[in-house]
Amino acid sequence: MGKIIGVVSLKGGVGKTSTVVELGYAIASFGKKVLLVDGNLSAPNLGLYFNVLEPEITLHHVLARKAHPSDAVYELDKNIDIMPASLFFRGEFNSLKLKEKLRLLRRKYDYILLDSSPSLNEETLAVMLASDIILVVTTPDHVTLGTTIKAVKKARQRGAPIKGIVLNKVHDKDFELSLSDIENVLGIPVLAVIRYNLDLLKSLSEFNSLVNTKPKVKESHEYKILAATLIGEKYKKPFSLKKFFSIAPKKEEINRTIYYEQVFG
Ligand SMILES: Nc1ncnc2c1ncn2[C@@H]1O[C@H](COP(=O)(O)OP(=O)(O)O)[C@@H](O)[C@H]1O
Ligand SMILES: [Mg+2]
Repeated sequence: MGKIIGVVSLKGGVGKTSTVVELGYAIASFGKKVLLVDGNLSAPNLGLYFNVLEPEITLHHVLARKAHPSDAVYELDKNIDIMPASLFFRGEFNSLKLKEKLRLLRRKYDYILLDSSPSLNEETLAVMLASDIILVVTTPDHVTLGTTIKAVKKARQRGAPIKGIVLNKVHDKDFELSLSDIENVLGIPVLAVIRYNLDLLKSLSEFNSLVNTKPKVKESHEYKILAATLIGEKYKKPFSLKKFFSIAPKKEEINRTIYYEQVFG
């Protein structure tokens, strides 16, 4: 039975959709079958990442009970499929049926990744309720952290399984909030630190993922290590002198080891 991983944050532009795309490709690189689902029903854009514009049948039709879940699935790449949502959908649909509808697809996929809306609405709640694992994406600034605190609080109130933070668009500047600041405020381990990388924007312009187009850059490795941690695989970063001479492991590395041991150890 496939596991469902939800990616949330209550702010736009922090990197939810990018995380779904990159983590999806990273998980698929371990030979797992992956489905990416656009749970951002009011302003969907996961399809746009891959030039999938307005397909005939989408998640909206499934939630409106007008189509079977497998009819809204389209092939993206080897081991990766996508279930887009409609940019323009007329008619009633029930977001809260998401969990039930995805249940029918769990048998076909090892991992289902859910993108979500930046608003605290029914569709975000539906993603939280449908997920076995929730990752919260944040960037290292107080404005985003403020909204992240709210997202975490709401998820906790619902008993949603928040497992970790993805700290995204990091520039390694002194004025940025540190990893420990963020962990102390949220009380959740940071499982990945993704630096700001222009190649991610380039891969987007090519309707592709960074993990696919630049597998050797630091950020691609970080997505793969995060993937390995979440799915119980081992991933060894290529040898680097920098790593060889760094004595203490980074906090996010320790967090990943703890997560791995707790879940798969
Ligand atoms: N680590 C990163 N480095 C550079 N650009 C990024 C990074 N993460 C996301 N982006 C870019 O930021 C923009 C917003 O990201 P997106 O994933 O769409 O955010 P959200 O889904 O949270 O609204 C996109 O253009 C995306 O390519
Ligand atoms: Mg998005």
